[in-house]
Amino acid sequence: MEVVEIHDQPVSAISIKDLKKSFDGREFVLNGMSLEIPKGQITVLIGYSGTGKSVLLKHILGLLKPTSGSIKIFSQEITGMTVEELTKLRNKFGMLFQYAALFDDMTALENVVFPLKEHRRDLSKTKMVEIARARLKESGLDEKHYGKLPSEMSGGMRKRVGLARALALDPEILVYDEPTTGLDPVLTEMVDNLIVSTHNLRQGTTSVVVSHDLYAAFRIADHVVMLDSGRVLLHGTPQDFLNSDIDLVKRFVAKGVRKELQVHDSQNGNGTRTVE
Ligand SMILES: Nc1ncnc2c1ncn2[C@@H]1O[C@H](COP(=O)(O)OP(=O)(O)OP(=O)(O)O)[C@@H](O)[C@H]1O
Ligand SMILES: [Mg+2]
Repeated sequence: MEVVEIHDQPVSAISIKDLKKSFDGREFVLNGMSLEIPKGQITVLIGYSGTGKSVLLKHILGLLKPTSGSIKIFSQEITGMTVEELTKLRNKFGMLFQYAALFDDMTALENVVFPLKEHRRDLSKTKMVEIARARLKESGLDEKHYGKLPSEMSGGMRKRVGLARALALDPEILVYDEPTTGLDPVLTEMVDNLIVSTHNLRQGTTSVVVSHDLYAAFRIADHVVMLDSGRVLLHGTPQDFLNSDIDLVKRFVAKGVRKELQVHDSQNGNGTRTVE
């Protein structure tokens, strides 16, 4: 797919071409992957375990070097960047992983101040605290918890602090790797809603979410990308996935959203879809 430029603004936030990665020189985890991730939208990456979703994210963040191929972030090629350039690039990203990975000996507020201390030395201490409080508020953490340590917080609160920390540097791209894996259904829905509300609050932000959960993907995504064998199997809207004739897609959909699919079909009067 060609990157179309409108008013000098690339439509793609992330543009990947023919990306290959082999760790051992024999097997390719990424095997000629090409993918455009649109700016300002929520893209959810799905796929069976071990299909290279996390490896792809690590390449996008410049944490892994590809064997060959191209990765552009806002039209800038990153594969040849120096460590310093990559560190600077990473400030464009906010990251939230499965385990929020908070600092255990820091309060909620201190956790969010931390990236500001590291990367925004130009700011006064007062300003840093002001920003951190604003981010915690945005993430929906009640003020009475700002002084608590991670061990004194619930799983949901920790996620909110993790998100607030991811937002600290005002990132252009938000990256989530399995943000709800291992959470109960109530917390899963809270985190999914938080991803959407955060995205909507921050005009122009690009969100990339890796998820096992197809139901969540369909609820929150503008675009869904399914990976298989180190390539993109299907890139489309949730509707494209429901309509797909690709066998593996049909199986993934059937496994993930059998119930939702039935509801969807009965609502649209499509009759019963055969998904085996
Ligand atoms: N640092 C590494 N060294 C060697 N092999 C690796 C490394 N990181 C990942 N792999 C391999 O790459 C493949 C893809 O891994 P990846 O973590 O991207 O899968 P995934 O799609 O994120 O799976 P899951 O849904 O289980 O998180 C796996 O076979 C894994 O063993
Ligand atoms: Mg993974």
